[in-house]
Amino acid sequence: MPAQGADAAGIASGEISVADMKARAAEKTTGAQAGERRRSSVATEKVKLNSGHYIPQVALGVYKAPNDGTTEDAVKWAFEAGYRHVDSAARYMNEEAVGRAIKEFVEKSGVKREELFITSKLWDADHERAAEAIEDSLKKLQLDYIDLYLIHSPGNLGPDARLKAWKDLEAAVDAGKIKSIGVSNFDVEELDHLLAVARIKPAVNQIESHPFFQHEELREATIARGIHVQAYSPMAQGAALEREEIKAIATKHGKSPAQVLLRWGLQIGNIILPKSLTQSRIEANAELFDFTLDEDDMAILNNLDEGMKMGKLGPAGTSAPGSRRSSNSGGVAGGKLQMTSS
Ligand SMILES: NC(=O)c1ccc[n+]([C@@H]2O[C@H](COP(=O)([O-])OP(=O)(O)OC[C@H]3O[C@@H](n4cnc5c(N)ncnc54)[C@H](OP(=O)(O)O)[C@@H]3O)[C@@H](O)[C@H]2O)c1
Repeated sequence: MPAQGADAAGIASGEISVADMKARAAEKTTGAQAGERRRSSVATEKVKLNSGHYIPQVALGVYKAPNDGTTEDAVKWAFEAGYRHVDSAARYMNEEAVGRAIKEFVEKSGVKREELFITSKLWDADHERAAEAIEDSLKKLQLDYIDLYLIHSPGNLGPDARLKAWKDLEAAVDAGKIKSIGVSNFDVEELDHLLAVARIKPAVNQIESHPFFQHEELREATIARGIHVQAYSPMAQGAALEREEIKAIATKHGKSPAQVLLRWGLQIGNIILPKSLTQSRIEANAELFDFTLDEDDMAILNNLDEGMKMGKLGPAGTSAPGSRRSSNSGGVAGGKLQMTSS
């Protein structure tokens, strides 16, 4: 029964009891977990979704990545650096490149397909033809199944089309074509509308979340419904890496500003999807498990929310001062943020 809000290094793959999770989180707070933390890596850190499947807590995002060798290289570099999770979408028009990279890596590395976690998404225009769109994605990715498939956004075809799409996603789970299904850019009303009729509960809601736009109300509402939060644009698309507060924390830990933003996301329990096409950045963005932001760091970062929403999709969210994170309550014992995901 892992908790959405659990600290990244407190979540490992395999079956872990609630008692173990709480003990780990408590030990980590005091720094007593150093030995264990050294063994944690982008390859090992996973959380259990409400579908029963485990998802690596860090993915390579491939938004704005071309459908060619550039993206194939990026995905391969990521796999070589230990990433096991790639976040793509039909809309990104690069599923073929992602598929080619997966095929080559599986053939050459000895890592099995089952050890990888591949996400794609149904674009808005396809809500009424989701079954076909799923087949298209499977073909482009050259996969027998997709690990996680999301409704990319509520779209503008209306609630009936959205619910029809969900039924098609459920049927694809029944047929073994998708392991877990979820949504993206859904606000609370849209989540509840879906939950009222869903036979299979969404496993995730993928939304924008970073220190400058934390989306705390929607995060908490998502978690309260037993749904994991996936955070897109976890580095605010690189727009605020020069901020003094971030640089000071980075210097303190001997890490980069990007790593500080990503680590913040992990520590509040987000599944994070950093995007890069640059090998050195892909590698650095995975080196998040050898340091911990302390309470002072988290307090500073929690106070940076200024409504700096980068994406066009998704609910506006609330970033008024009252919605700021007031604590590091993302831990296993984090009250409201605790969730059941078994
Ligand atoms: N569901 C949705 O509606 C939705 C919306 C947006 C994004 N997403 C997903 O979330 C992923 C990430 O979001 P995002 O691409 O918007 O933003 P992001 O990951 O926060 O930032 C990506 C930008 O930061 C740069 N960057 C990466 N690592 C860096 C580093 N270590 N130092 C400095 N700059 C660095 C990248 O440049 P280089 O590539 O040149 O390194 C790129 O310009 C996407 O790829 C996609 O998978 C989903």
